Amino acid sequence: MAIKHYLQFADFTLDEYEYLIERTKIIKRKFKNYEPYHPLLDRTLVMVFEKNSTRTRLSFEAGMHQLGGAAIYLNTRDSQLGRGEPVEDAAQVMSRMCDIIMIRTFGQEIINRFSTNSRVPVINGLTNEYHPCQVFADVFTYIEHRGSITGKTVAWVGDANNMLYSWLQAAEVFGFHLNVSTPEGYDINPALVSSDNQRYTAFKNPSDACVGADLVTTDVWTSMGYEEENAARLHAFDGWIVDSAKMKRANKDALFMHCLPAHRGEEVSAEVIDGPQSVVWDEAENRLHVQKALLEYLVLGRI
Ligand code: CP
Ligand code: NVA
Repeated sequence: MAIKHYLQFADFTLDEYEYLIERTKIIKRKFKNYEPYHPLLDRTLVMVFEKNSTRTRLSFEAGMHQLGGAAIYLNTRDSQLGRGEPVEDAAQVMSRMCDIIMIRTFGQEIINRFSTNSRVPVINGLTNEYHPCQVFADVFTYIEHRGSITGKTVAWVGDANNMLYSWLQAAEVFGFHLNVSTPEGYDINPALVSSDNQRYTAFKNPSDACVGADLVTTDVWTSMGYEEENAARLHAFDGWIVDSAKMKRANKDALFMHCLPAHRGEEVSAEVIDGPQSVVWDEAENRLHVQKALLEYLVLGRI
């Protein structure tokens, strides 16, 4: 049987997400009740980081521990990956010593090549193109706060980055609409969106994108790996801050999300991210719970 990987949001069907959401609720409840749950006893997760992380490392490492298994952290600096060992060879070796692998890296093609050579499931912990675990946590967080996301409107204000491309896939899977506003020159790359995706509308004006939104979300203007563009981006993104004026254009009960880390005063005002509509801390916490369901599913299948 083909090994199931989670390399982009579209890798799972709605039916699989519905199953995972139910598992997440159960697993989260157990955690909150201090109820031990060790379905992955003696299993090992290898985590490969080629970029920095706080939330992803912590949530996968703590999550694997809480499921009864162990997590091993590798990074480019002190593993042979940083000295040019081919990704294909690394995948062969790592996947003979563990049960599941999570990678944070640069191009999606790296994780694709890695997974092709892996004997065990591979999870995308962020690439330049996608961040599916985060968007899954965000969708779960929306559902926890407001119920079904199907038919709702999500406003994306900011860069066309890995988060947006995963939101675009989520909109197709869950059947909601995305209002997208990116500055000129930082538009959506059509190669990263399925040609028949009818689930988004592009807006020139970021305030207009927020009108009627049930959720407003944004992310850093300069993602990891693009640091040399920072000065040009600060200039180009002027006006794309999610502030109170933009939140006022959204629905009254609209939520605000940001995958974090955030830059107050750049992509979001302190008033919004620290205000009553913001659910960023729940969003960060839910990384732990959805990923535990994901680890359980990829290692054991439906239980
Ligand atoms: N949101 C997120 O993936 O955070 P880290 O970069 O800290 O892992
Ligand atoms: N878009 C950001 C997300 C960080 C979690 C980046 O890739 O750096």
